[in-house]
Amino acid sequence: MSYAKGGKQIEKLIINGGKQLNGEVVVDKAKNSILPILASTLLCPERCIIHNNPDYTDIRNMCHILADLGAGVIVDGDNLIIDNSTTTKYFIAPDLAKVIRSSIFALGALLGRFGKARVSYPGGCDIGLRPIDLHLKGLRDLGVDIQESHGLINCDASRIHGGEVYLDYPSVGATENLIMASTVGKKRKTIIHNAAKEPEIEDLQNFINAMGGKVKGAGTSTITIESVDQLHGTIFTPIADRIIAGTYLIAGAMTGGEISVVGCEPYLLQALIDKLIKSSCKVDTKGDKIILRASGKRKCFGFVETLPYPGFPTDLQAQILTMATICRGNSVIRENLFEARYKYVPELIKMGANVVVRDRTAFVSGVRELQGASVYASDLRGGVALVLAGLVARGYTTVNDIWHIDRGYRHIEQTLSELGADIQRI
Ligand code: UD1
Repeated sequence: MSYAKGGKQIEKLIINGGKQLNGEVVVDKAKNSILPILASTLLCPERCIIHNNPDYTDIRNMCHILADLGAGVIVDGDNLIIDNSTTTKYFIAPDLAKVIRSSIFALGALLGRFGKARVSYPGGCDIGLRPIDLHLKGLRDLGVDIQESHGLINCDASRIHGGEVYLDYPSVGATENLIMASTVGKKRKTIIHNAAKEPEIEDLQNFINAMGGKVKGAGTSTITIESVDQLHGTIFTPIADRIIAGTYLIAGAMTGGEISVVGCEPYLLQALIDKLIKSSCKVDTKGDKIILRASGKRKCFGFVETLPYPGFPTDLQAQILTMATICRGNSVIRENLFEARYKYVPELIKMGANVVVRDRTAFVSGVRELQGASVYASDLRGGVALVLAGLVARGYTTVNDIWHIDRGYRHIEQTLSELGADIQRI
């Protein structure tokens, strides 16, 4: 593997567009479940095994953080074995925290395990500012003393108590941190109001409960946590990645093929399925299988705005906008969550797309076809959207900086090739 300065891989994807995709994809497990689950293993001084590890680079980086804190981390086939019996450190090194924003999830878990934690301020990232005020306010409401200085956050949970916490906004990360900070310790009950309802939070609840925790209500806006003295090791299989499933469905819709995604409960993707049907795709569901049939040109789906779950996911915004570029008619997309999530749009415009972005709203007029170009991924989902564009563009598209995509998709070129795409990694 070759790396550019700064340790980033310099691999790229070359796509010869215009091939219809057909076939079945078994969806990998969810990055956004596994990252907080890995953080929550810090709460447990015994061995935990996570099955079906998809080995995205974000997961590897989270494992580096755990190892740096003292955990034993073993990758055995597709099992991830984490042993936190040896973990002693409660300070996340800033250079590691910089690589993966989700290191902030370790804050609540470190407080639960050691009663103290020191993490660095995550700052901005590829898709916007990513503040953590809601995490810190929630923890303060629970009695955690927090001192911020020189970009470091020092937390002392020696006086942590239960009680009711209201989140001003249903933040996924803040909800997960508050759950983890409240799971272990002297008998207390914590209630989180206006919690985020994302399915990955329910998965975290199931994992914590499998370790002996007492968390109830995840998936609704009120979550109750009764603390327990200690957790025990467990074996767990996380849920499938609904964003990956959605990405492949959109690939089928754009290329006019028939794609089945297997392993992801259809209700998790209802907001997307609605737009695909509006775009004249046929969508059938059978158990945990979603079957999409698309032929001819897509119709525009009108308006879509990103919202907390069960609304349309911000992590599928770039992919649906890219589909809109080749739909008949005009579409409007509004991004409500992250202010810098249209960085991929100038790259799409290079490929012939007709998109105008004003503040948080993108106006898209469908064009007859996109043309291949050399484009640069600027973040994970924006990067995968450029791959989707390449699949339908005339001629060759080179997607550079694909290390962004590897953060959350495993061997994307292999999956797409198996579906009939002409794509290679060089
Ligand atoms: C998680 C997901 C990410 C997804 C996002 C929204 C993981 C690893 N990442 O990110 O892929 O796009 O949910 O579904 O699970 N906010 C604040 N203050 C805070 C926290 C958040 O203002 O303290 C704002 C954010 O700027 C954003 C909104 O709340 O506008 C949602 O953020 P949040 O739900 O916290 O997303 P993450 O947990 O960071």
